[in-house]
Amino acid sequence: MIKPATGRSVMLACDHGYFMGPTHRLENPRKTIEPLLPYADTLAVTRGVLRSSVDPKWDTPILLRVSGGASILKDDLSDEEITTSMKDAVRLNVSAVALSVFVGTQHEKQSLVNLSRLVDEGEEYGMPVMAITAVGKELEKRDAKYLALACRVSAEIGVQIVKTYYCENFSKVVNGTPVPLVVAGGPKLNTVDDVLNLVYNAIQDGAVGVDMGRNIWQNDHPVAMINAIRSIVHEDATVKEALQVFSDNMITEPKKVEPQIH
Ligand code: R5P
Repeated sequence: MIKPATGRSVMLACDHGYFMGPTHRLENPRKTIEPLLPYADTLAVTRGVLRSSVDPKWDTPILLRVSGGASILKDDLSDEEITTSMKDAVRLNVSAVALSVFVGTQHEKQSLVNLSRLVDEGEEYGMPVMAITAVGKELEKRDAKYLALACRVSAEIGVQIVKTYYCENFSKVVNGTPVPLVVAGGPKLNTVDDVLNLVYNAIQDGAVGVDMGRNIWQNDHPVAMINAIRSIVHEDATVKEALQVFSDNMITEPKKVEPQIH
């Protein structure tokens, strides 16, 4: 999942349906995922989407979302359980499993105990675990103090990698988390420039990459966007250089790439 050549990763997040339903521009997961897969180092999905919408010929590593139990109709999104067994994750041949933790919410303990159980099972099967430091509807908690706490607590429980949000003083979050961190994008930002700045700053501050969804596939030029992000993550491009990659790819997309069998 993390490319040895750079020590970094561009993960494509397409697991939103597990609580958001048919999210805008992810209504038909296969249509959204296929053109982007050649440029993703990892694809993050649920088992339902993996089975129904991802051609098994693709050899992109899969990050399997295994927590759920609440939908956006509920006020409290933190009431999650493990929804997919470790055995099924192994059977599906995924590279890692992911679960949300809700530090500071009503179900904090439940989500942290879920994470501990998942890490224990992961150890038995040799399956890496990602903690997702969800902030749910409480977006005001997206600050360094809160995220550093949630990331550190997850690392102490034993996860191999954490996904969190970029925030001001993000290096504080990175420095306090002794495992690799990737950042989510969150809801679609206003401009391409805003997205690329977020990615650039996160990498500068020590993130090993992104696990990003809406800011890629809700853009009118998703292939251009993922390639621009790749240039920052893997080639240390500046925002200006990445914008150029975006423009160059905008002109050439879409190009249908067939899966390669290796
Ligand atoms: C939430 O549904 C998932 O954890 C997403 O994978 C995560 O939020 C990343 O997606 P986005 O960049 O759209 O926030």
